[in-house]
Amino acid sequence: PVERTLSIIKPDAVEKNNIGKILAHLEEAGFKIVALRRTHLSRAEAEGFYAVHKARPFFGELVEFMTRSPVVISVLEREDAVDTYRKVMGATDPAKADAGTLRKLFGSSVGENAVHGSDSRENAKIEIAYYFPASEVAPSV
Ligand code: CMP
Repeated sequence: PVERTLSIIKPDAVEKNNIGKILAHLEEAGFKIVALRRTHLSRAEAEGFYAVHKARPFFGELVEFMTRSPVVISVLEREDAVDTYRKVMGATDPAKADAGTLRKLFGSSVGENAVHGSDSRENAKIEIAYYFPASEVAPSV
């Protein structure tokens, strides 16, 4: 079915001027960008977004990184969006990601890996609602 997922172009990719290339790649892959926002996350926003990772040893580093400079958050729509976007992103660690994936092309380490994507349909709904008011993600027709 046609569904939606949440994408974040992370600080490393924004710093390297790769916003346009990543968005073009997503459109080429058949995604419609149905909501889009550039913002500098506060510590509270980043901690809340990554709350499930709070107990992980890398949590502090993750929050530092995600608040270091602006990000570009979008809602992507297409058939099978959640799983398709995960394939387009590639493995979390860019060194292990397949050729041609966003993390291979634009990421540099497991922390600074260029993009985030929702890991399930359930989390996609939660993550979209975390960053976008309902009025900004209404059906586009
Ligand atoms: P993301 O999909 O945004 O969700 C959690 C993030 O934690 C993940 O991408 C990685 O970038 C990050 N992460 C996972 N493992 C590590 C690690 N060992 N060190 C730093 N960051 C990590």
